[in-house]
Amino acid sequence: MTGATGTLGTALRPRLTAADHTVPAASRSPPNEAKGSVNWVELDVTDGSNIKSALENIDVVIHAATAPQGDTAAVDVQGTKRLIEAAEVAGVEHFVYPSIVGIDDIPYSYYEHKAIAETAVAKSDIPTTIIRSTQFHAFIAELLDFVAKLPVWPLPTKLQLQPIDVGEVADIIVEHATLTASGRTDPIGGPEVRSVRELARAYRAARNLRRPILHVPLPGDTVAAFRAGDATCPDHRGGVLTWEEWLAQRYVTGPNETTTQMESSM
Ligand SMILES: NC(=O)c1ccc[n+]([C@@H]2O[C@H](COP(=O)([O-])OP(=O)(O)OC[C@H]3O[C@@H](n4cnc5c(N)ncnc54)[C@H](OP(=O)(O)O)[C@@H]3O)[C@@H](O)[C@H]2O)c1
Repeated sequence: MTGATGTLGTALRPRLTAADHTVPAASRSPPNEAKGSVNWVELDVTDGSNIKSALENIDVVIHAATAPQGDTAAVDVQGTKRLIEAAEVAGVEHFVYPSIVGIDDIPYSYYEHKAIAETAVAKSDIPTTIIRSTQFHAFIAELLDFVAKLPVWPLPTKLQLQPIDVGEVADIIVEHATLTASGRTDPIGGPEVRSVRELARAYRAARNLRRPILHVPLPGDTVAAFRAGDATCPDHRGGVLTWEEWLAQRYVTGPNETTTQMESSM
């Protein structure tokens, strides 16, 4: 599995192990305690070093490495192509690729690169499974954590999202970690489609904060697509854990009204 230290990879590792899979976990920077462990591989998909050895005796690849804040052309497009070509040579039997709902409709360079990577995966000689999901709760919380440092929260409040628990996405991916490929699966969405205003208000309440939320009408096609709901899949509400339930797990309010951040649930 690539991207083993990421949000999804961290949720996948214990679930794959619990399902009795032997899981060599790969990323550029394995945790210190994992260095030297046979179950960890230092692997950078942009230079190909270690890819060949990492794929020895592997039946199924789950490719969860991505670089949304980095060079998506190098990591998500070229890195994915490099990995899948090496997987073909190595005789991998099934290549599973997590992806994102709406990437064909939302003009955003990261999503455009994810779509190109998906096409490369789909065209491969290896049987593949592509599983799109909506945004993870943890990802939205990370964005709000950043805004929360400001005295006023300027937000594009009308954007529509359908946040999902990463653990629920991981559970479905684990179900597909077999020798049987499914091609393109139905997308997986969270239980509710919510506006950014609603998500931010719930986040503010969970953290006992009182900062005002300021609507910022951002221009552009990307924002318009999110506003139109292109990042959601209301007909596929596979997730169960709501945003408020997830926030309640993440933040625990003590008696003196201070809020403690808990480890995010998997
Ligand atoms: N976040 C969301 O809300 C969301 C929603 C739907 C689908 N997805 C999809 O789920 C998958 C995982 O996303 P995520 O949110 O878990 O990502 P993430 O938290 O940003 O983690 C990215 C992972 O990729 C690794 N990585 C980055 N650059 C690399 C490189 N050059 N070579 C090898 N590994 C590299 C990182 O580890 P190192 O830095 O140690 O290399 C890390 O383990 C992606 O396909 C993403 O599109 C995400």
